[in-house]
Amino acid sequence: MSVSTLSFSIQKSLESKINQVDWDNLPFGKVFSDHMFLMEYRDGAWQEGSILPFAPIPMHPAMSAIHYGQTIFEGLKAYRWANGDVSIFRPDMNAKRFAQSAKRMCMPEVPEDIFIEAVRKLVEIDADWVTDKNGCSLYIRPFLFATDELVGIKPSDTYKFMIITSPVGAYYSEPVRVKIEEHYTRAAEGGVGRAKAAGNYGSSLYPAKQCQLEGFHQLVWTDAKEHKFIEESGTMNIVFQIGGKLITPTEDSDTILRGITKRSLIDLVLSWGIEVEERKVSVEEIITAAKNGTLEDAFGAGTAATIAQIAIIGYRDERLELPAMETRTLSNKIKEHMDAIKLGEIEDTFGWNLKV
Ligand code: PLP
Ligand code: COI
Repeated sequence: MSVSTLSFSIQKSLESKINQVDWDNLPFGKVFSDHMFLMEYRDGAWQEGSILPFAPIPMHPAMSAIHYGQTIFEGLKAYRWANGDVSIFRPDMNAKRFAQSAKRMCMPEVPEDIFIEAVRKLVEIDADWVTDKNGCSLYIRPFLFATDELVGIKPSDTYKFMIITSPVGAYYSEPVRVKIEEHYTRAAEGGVGRAKAAGNYGSSLYPAKQCQLEGFHQLVWTDAKEHKFIEESGTMNIVFQIGGKLITPTEDSDTILRGITKRSLIDLVLSWGIEVEERKVSVEEIITAAKNGTLEDAFGAGTAATIAQIAIIGYRDERLELPAMETRTLSNKIKEHMDAIKLGEIEDTFGWNLKV
């Protein structure tokens, strides 16, 4: 990937917080690097972007984003290579999805070249925060929110586009236990499920909490109409393996987030000659396969979670145990190869890494 020569104003922090970080016990998303990116939209145009010391932002109590949720976000990661280089995984894909989310939420689109360069420059400035610790990376969180000071409901005329970064370790520390949800809904056709809109996450908390009280990590969302077809799981897309093939819900409906991790692993396994079916996947076929032993593997795919193998699928009152992790040769291989590409250990034949 190549980048443009856009420039932003830069104000460096006077003192780095990096020495306060406990690198051996990195939680997910609680530690923030020294700088942040900010670009405002007003008078019908994006203003000059700037990189500033990380700090709280002033907020008017009537700021429309906190009342009506006109807010979207992205998530991507930067990695430290063994030779010291830093690269970012597929920021062009996040830039595109961010623009699509903005459009759906009636917000101004951030030009893709500005998005990519803002991410790149921020990571460059806080490059020391990209650790080479095993399993760790720098999580990058771009977000866009409405800032009109108005309790009336209408698309805002003003917005803030910001990026913050956070050194992170593993999102899940063990194979995940998921439960198939047959009552609550994440997204309905015609809704905003395909957008990375903040409200999708807020509304998932209560249903997810119910399954967590039963000992699961996350829900598997099903279609809103009949709860017969599988959509995705928590903040991950979901992939199954039956008869050596990968099977995953089609993204044709506008209820599923088009995940970059899943798209990448599909391209990878296709290059290995593995068959992939992207189609409607019924709950019934997965439960039948889990019960008769033909479900070889199931895993979630997402930026934060990477490849998260599923240990148990809960369905109604049953807990179906999936095969032992050491038998999951394909998902283990996918995880290893994806990591090796991101860390520059094998050739990036797909052109996915942006060098910082
Ligand atoms: N689905 C949802 C609802 C998510 O929040 C995420 C995470 O970003 C994904 C799927 C996976 O998308 P990606 O691989 O682009 O991170
Ligand atoms: C991501 O994988 O980037 C996500 O969206 C997960 C996040 C909500 C922690």
